[in-house]
Amino acid sequence: MSRAFGKVLLFGEHAVVHGVPAIAAGLPLDVVARVAPSSDGLWRVEAPSWRLSEQGASSRVVQALSALAHALHLPAPMTVTLDAAVPAGAGLGSSAAMAIAVGRALLEFYGKAIPDEALFDAAMASERVFHGNPSGLDHMAAMRGGVFRFLRGQPPVAEPLTLATPLQLVVAQVDRGGDTGQLVAGVAQRRLTHPATFDHLLASFRSVVDDATTALTTGRLAYVGELMNINHGLLSAIGVSTASLDVAVHAAREAGALGAKLTGAGGGGCMIALVDATTCQAVQSTLKAVSQKQWTVVLPC
Ligand code: PMV
Repeated sequence: MSRAFGKVLLFGEHAVVHGVPAIAAGLPLDVVARVAPSSDGLWRVEAPSWRLSEQGASSRVVQALSALAHALHLPAPMTVTLDAAVPAGAGLGSSAAMAIAVGRALLEFYGKAIPDEALFDAAMASERVFHGNPSGLDHMAAMRGGVFRFLRGQPPVAEPLTLATPLQLVVAQVDRGGDTGQLVAGVAQRRLTHPATFDHLLASFRSVVDDATTALTTGRLAYVGELMNINHGLLSAIGVSTASLDVAVHAAREAGALGAKLTGAGGGGCMIALVDATTCQAVQSTLKAVSQKQWTVVLPC
């Protein structure tokens, strides 16, 4: 048995796929994985909280986990049971948390120890089943937690950020969320159609992430909130927001949030609002009306 955590993207999702840094934070929402040898030679995955029960090679989840197991050189079919607090497909890093938790459980089951970099690479092989061009950011968050700035690459660079002030976030799931692979491919397609405009947009993402790095580490929360609003606008510009995300983001701002944006791949899914002690309750109750589920988390210094 082993566990890993979900994440929120504070700044820079999608742009990170195109080589811009992003800022992510581990969430106290976990995936606990239990593994046992399969009795009939078939991979099986049970995740009651995701209403998922799948077996055999036609299942994408099975394909992802067997890609993980192959990359770990532990390819024998297993029965995997997942106890997940992270919602599936909502942009909170569920598939990466699943891959890291199952990878750790397999290594524990076989009594094998490998460096974190090798587990990261194996989890990336699993994520490629869901979308062809993952940045690796979700996996880094699932492995390490905390708040960090991430740059994709071989190897990726993850730089821990020490917050000057704790961040209180309301995370709200507005609906089921889009397919990360399709959303990432859609952004890549729009970049091909509008290369010059996209270069400007990516430069803007980069400057938002740079300013946010300074604001987070110096405790300028109002400024962090404004940068979240700008980041949401950039995500709308590259085509990954939706009407329901926009409604929730605007509702949170009107209820007093310091800032609000979609988080993760978009196309629906989750948004985050930055709140403080005076605005938290109003934002929570406003978001109740426009979302299915919400969590209030504090990211510590
Ligand atoms: O899988 P999600 O919804 O948490 O989003 C992943 C973040 C993206 O930047 C959209 C993709 C990536 O691989 O970084």
